Amino acid sequence: MSIYGPYEETLNEILLDVEDRIKQLNRRELDKHQPKLYEHLIGRVKTPSSMEEKCQRKNYPLTTESALRRCRDAVGIRIVCNFISDIDRCLDVLRNAEWCSVVKEKDYITKSKPNGYRSYHLILDVVENYRDIGGNNPGHFFVEIQLRTIAMDSWASLEHEIKYKHHVKNPERIGRELKRCADQLASCDIQMETIRQLIRED
Ligand code: GTP
Ligand code: MG
Repeated sequence: MSIYGPYEETLNEILLDVEDRIKQLNRRELDKHQPKLYEHLIGRVKTPSSMEEKCQRKNYPLTTESALRRCRDAVGIRIVCNFISDIDRCLDVLRNAEWCSVVKEKDYITKSKPNGYRSYHLILDVVENYRDIGGNNPGHFFVEIQLRTIAMDSWASLEHEIKYKHHVKNPERIGRELKRCADQLASCDIQMETIRQLIRED
């Protein structure tokens, strides 16, 4: 059995359920004749081997408890938005959703990481009709949400790809170029926001 013990299938079910709930929030906006909350979303259950690797890195014992409770990103959903203001709208509806509570927020948009990474991270506590590891049924499960713009997302996937190439010739130069690129994309996101506002004021 994997580090997820008997929970591997449950985690897949929870992912599908939370994705559905977020899609429903989007439909509700469209019904109110508001623009869509996000462009697309993408979810995943962290593979057992990367969860084991993470627990090792964090010096947690290789247990299901570590994988589900100490780590809180076994289930993860990335919400990719057209505009920064849409990220704020997503945050609003998620903070007010009755099926989850926000237990942690990390704002890497106001304060980007030194490498230029930008995104807004949430940890949700979601109540689901499955027994959790503490014995509660309905149980509590953590879900990590990453909110970013399309520009931030394209940057993060390029940076992620490079991070795992260990034999690049000039890592300092690549790091500098990536940082410059991140800042330019951030400036574009602000410009796009301005254009959207100008169109709305017409
Ligand atoms: P982990 O131990 O990696 O989960 O980090 P953490 O628990 O301190 O959480 P943090 O909010 O910093 O990062 C969570 C996730 O955000 C990571 O697993 C990545 O998917 C993403 N992320 C964070 N920093 C970066 C970054 O510098 N570059 C990219 N491409 N992704 C990042
Ligand atoms: Mg993580």
